[in-house]
Amino acid sequence: MSKSTFSTHHGMTDLLPGEIEQWQALEALIHETARRYHFQEIRTPVLEQTELIARGVGQLTDIVSKEMFTFDRGEDHYVLRPEGTAPVARAFVQHHLAQRGGTQRLYYIGPFFRAERPQKGRQRQFHQFGAELIGASGAIADVEIIAFMTAIYRQIGIQNTSLKLNSVGDPSSREAYRKALHAYFKPLAGKLSDISRNRLETNPMRILDSKEEQDQPLKAGAPKITDYLSATSLAHFESVRELLDQMDIPYDVDPFLVRGLDYYTETAFELTSPDLGSQDALGGGGRYDLLIEEVGGPSTPAVGFACGIERLMIACEALGISLAQPAGPDIYFVTRGEEAARWALKKMPELRNTGLVCTMDYSGRSLKAQMKDANRQQARFTVIVGEQELQENLFTLRDMVKSEESQVKSAEIADRVAIT
Ligand code: HAM
Repeated sequence: MSKSTFSTHHGMTDLLPGEIEQWQALEALIHETARRYHFQEIRTPVLEQTELIARGVGQLTDIVSKEMFTFDRGEDHYVLRPEGTAPVARAFVQHHLAQRGGTQRLYYIGPFFRAERPQKGRQRQFHQFGAELIGASGAIADVEIIAFMTAIYRQIGIQNTSLKLNSVGDPSSREAYRKALHAYFKPLAGKLSDISRNRLETNPMRILDSKEEQDQPLKAGAPKITDYLSATSLAHFESVRELLDQMDIPYDVDPFLVRGLDYYTETAFELTSPDLGSQDALGGGGRYDLLIEEVGGPSTPAVGFACGIERLMIACEALGISLAQPAGPDIYFVTRGEEAARWALKKMPELRNTGLVCTMDYSGRSLKAQMKDANRQQARFTVIVGEQELQENLFTLRDMVKSEESQVKSAEIADRVAIT
């Protein structure tokens, strides 16, 4: 009878020892940076109501119209969350966080799901870290969010990034711009790609997002949103630019930057890397002053960002940056016989309490096999334990890096290993 084998779904990956250390180091750095920026962690469920995402992210977006993993159970419609902003907005409303006063400064790390065609840097289950600053309308908040995002990359040493900045304006600016774009592209409809032609009537701003070859020359001559911004939107955009200059955060204004989610108002930004190939966005975000009201809350301005962790890892690899080395145990107990194994089992918690990482052989293998295992696991030290060693309370401590041996008493092991 042949055995069936299983594998992960296309576009979903396991994170194994050897790689996971990088993720843990990154997560530690994110938590620490968030602490310094005084953001607090929020964890929301992986499943949300489909209607929340449809309404929050926008019916006409690719995410909602094509990429959601959904299922129904009884009356309830579930979606695997494709992004974190609508869920955080929901939590803000559901738990009346506005009543806590001041601004809410929230961050998150976790898995997200989009049924996209997988390729390098584009997965169906991917991970983001992100932050949302809710309850502040000033340009200072936009810049604080951008500073938080860029601080992570700077600390890691990913320096060759570009920050693209745009304003998508307030609803009145956007309506004027939509009309101008429609008027510009309408006579060119025959030359547009099929995707862009379809977007002409529904959402002409998304044509600017097109990666299709044939759309590029047509896009180049399109009107720019910066010429359609209302006085208030223009003033906000200029303040953001001034503050970024003041903070020495370099950026390029990209008047065609339209993000693939419908909730944005005013500031929109994206951080890109030349090391990522066609999926070049490390992260992105912007202001979303209408979303919280849209999902049933009080009118509340907000701004945030989210970044892809897989893409950050690709950039690290391209740049030869290692966030952490997988570490072997400090001590591997090599035991001879049942009594020795029992002794080691009891000794290890005592050493672990001092902070040392200990392991041993768990299957009664030969001394030679155990030494080989200790080597493979890159143990710093081995302690050899047998009947005689127990009787004399004298053990061979072997420094595996220097290939040196010394005799130690049981009580001396912790200190000897700790100081080396
Ligand atoms: P987003 O641009 O859709 O924004 O995603 C942010 C980042 O997540 C992307 O720049 C990319 O690095 C990563 N990402 C997205 N989709 C995939 C995928 N299929 N595979 C791998 N990585 C991916 C948002 O999600 C907004 N919620 C950001 C935001 C927060 N805006 C305001 N607050």
